[in-house]
Amino acid sequence: MPADPINILAIESSCDETSAAIIQDGKVLSNIIATQKVHERYGGVVPELASRAHMQNIVPVVDTALKDAGVNKKDITAVAFTRSPGLIGSLLVGACFAKSYAQALGLPLIAVHHMQAHVLAHFIDSKPEFPFLCLTVSGGHTQIVLCRDYLDMEVLGQTIDDAAGEAFDKVAKMLGLPYPGGPLVDKYAALGDPLRFKFPMSEMKDYEFSFSGIKTSVLYFLQAQKKTNPDFIAENLNDICASVQYTIINMLMNKLRKAAKDLHINHIGIAGGVSANSGLRKAIKEAGEKYGWQVYIPKFEYCTDNAAMIGITGYHKYLKGEFADMTVSPDARSAW
Ligand code: KG4
Ligand code: ZN
Repeated sequence: MPADPINILAIESSCDETSAAIIQDGKVLSNIIATQKVHERYGGVVPELASRAHMQNIVPVVDTALKDAGVNKKDITAVAFTRSPGLIGSLLVGACFAKSYAQALGLPLIAVHHMQAHVLAHFIDSKPEFPFLCLTVSGGHTQIVLCRDYLDMEVLGQTIDDAAGEAFDKVAKMLGLPYPGGPLVDKYAALGDPLRFKFPMSEMKDYEFSFSGIKTSVLYFLQAQKKTNPDFIAENLNDICASVQYTIINMLMNKLRKAAKDLHINHIGIAGGVSANSGLRKAIKEAGEKYGWQVYIPKFEYCTDNAAMIGITGYHKYLKGEFADMTVSPDARSAW
């Protein structure tokens, strides 16, 4: 008789996406994502509103994930949830739900680190060879990660201030675009000239990044231009977006190239929300051809926050017997 499949129910609620997924033996059966629209009009995520929206969304999202997967709740093997990092109120909703669910059904509980999960999203559809390097770029983090094995990762360097996604979103806000602005900057950038305006690139040591400088230089640049031409943004939106995106991507790629060269690793991936950016996807493909890298780029739905990546991480933790007990509590910012 074949062994029972390992069905992981995974829950992600670290920021403004309520997501649930069912992963069977490491394969995604369903991945439901409810994106909270409530934040759009505020120009950024409002933590209290995010927690409330998670509370409203979580039951229907989990229910849909089970139905879409065709899996009965009595066939779930373990419950995985995002423990850290994130907005504490948002994390609490997912953690409380996961703990209650696990306790009610007598299931093991698995606590997952969100940034580790972004990296392991690569293993949903492909199988990068170890060791590989991952540039994880999201709304809250920018990291170069050395992955020696599924659960053996080291952050080689990260941003000392803003994350790359934050830089995209803040520039978008200056341009009058709604939150999250990253995808819109990407859209307008595709129509513009990346060399039209020049913005300074930060020079950081080792594998560190800094994105607060570009944000400030764009702010001063726009203020100066608007003094002589109040319609400057509207008339130059595509070129501004293309130039800002070009600068951010160059900063990211310079460090990634340095890490690949220093460590002699040619299996390279990008992950996190900003890895959905078409310019970055193109840049890493081109670098792959130029430097002989084997490049890994997640599908769009696994770039931004999703529970499938929590489930794949949960699956590997399950195989290693890494379980949490009922005293586990979420943490807004923990190292993995
Ligand atoms: O990984 P993610 O969904 O959430 C966090 O863990 O932070 O990343 C969200 C970030 C936001 O800053 C969003 O603007 C950015 O990813 N983003 C993009 C694109 N799609 C999402 N940035 C640039 N271009 C995109 N196409
Ligand atoms: Zn994320």
